[in-house]
Amino acid sequence: MKKTITLNNGVEMPLMGYGVWQIAPTECEQYVSEALKAGYRSIDTAQAYYNEEGVGAAISKSGLPREELFLTTKVWISNAGDEKAARSIDDSLRKLKTDYIDLLLIHQPFGDYYGTYRAMESAYRAGKVRAIGLSNFYDARFVDLAENMEIKPAVVQLETHVFSQQVKMRGLMKEYGTRLMAWSPLARGMNNLFGNETLKSIAVRHGKDIAQICLKFLTDEGVIVIPQSTKSERMASNFALDDFELTAEEREAIRRLDTGHPLAADFNDPALAKYLLGYDAQFNPDNQ
Ligand SMILES: NC(=O)c1ccc[n+]([C@@H]2O[C@H](COP(=O)([O-])OP(=O)(O)OC[C@H]3O[C@@H](n4cnc5c(N)ncnc54)[C@H](OP(=O)(O)O)[C@@H]3O)[C@@H](O)[C@H]2O)c1
Repeated sequence: MKKTITLNNGVEMPLMGYGVWQIAPTECEQYVSEALKAGYRSIDTAQAYYNEEGVGAAISKSGLPREELFLTTKVWISNAGDEKAARSIDDSLRKLKTDYIDLLLIHQPFGDYYGTYRAMESAYRAGKVRAIGLSNFYDARFVDLAENMEIKPAVVQLETHVFSQQVKMRGLMKEYGTRLMAWSPLARGMNNLFGNETLKSIAVRHGKDIAQICLKFLTDEGVIVIPQSTKSERMASNFALDDFELTAEEREAIRRLDTGHPLAADFNDPALAKYLLGYDAQFNPDNQ
């Protein structure tokens, strides 16, 4: 799947990428190298994955021209605010061994995210970043930021899969030309995704697997996907979506699987806010 989409500032972004959440820093270089070999050119990491250096090592050793790659990273809550965020962007550039980040997101809607967004706008104007956006900003929080800031978010990354299709957010984002980027596009297998009878019957009809059906469904709707696998055969099959088409009836049947809400994380949950606000202190390997 080499298709790209055009973001609201004219930047071209691959619809298919490889995500590296929970990939250990020591293993990240190897998995990203495998993903690049499988054809992926877009990599999704984050400051709070603590593996940006592994991504940087893999891309610099790949020999691929930088302009053929698309790197996304995210500013974590502990780096929120004008000055801290600006410093953290320079740190990310150094760790990723690159002069520019293709897409920079605010990872979570907590802390001084207005300050962070201003720092991201400055980095964008300075040419350190090609596009900026948000992650996990829902409803009024998204609208508030999109209305107030000069550079409209190019992307919002949200938990999106067949069981959480984000219909309402897609409607809100349209006004700003903001594109949806799906995290956990395979729902991490939740809700028995890989045993779902509707998906199974569609997969059998096309001689494909359930993951391919899910990823095809989302990318056909212009949703950017970043599936993760540590298995090279799955990296390859998740990327191979070009030789079949879903019918209108199949698409309709998949639309009916939508529960209308995310399964993994509710960003209005105060307990989640507290957990994420303390995350870096607990998990940053530099603090151990
Ligand atoms: N912005 C955020 O807050 C946020 C939150 C979560 C995730 N993300 C991003 O989204 C990326 C993807 O999300 P995710 O890793 O949570 O979940 P996911 O991509 O939905 O699912 C990954 C899981 O599915 C398995 N899998 C992958 N391909 C498969 C296939 N073809 N058949 C069967 N199982 C398969 C993988 O296991 P194997 O390794 O064994 O194949 C892994 O356990 C992350 O890596 C990260 O970059 C962002």
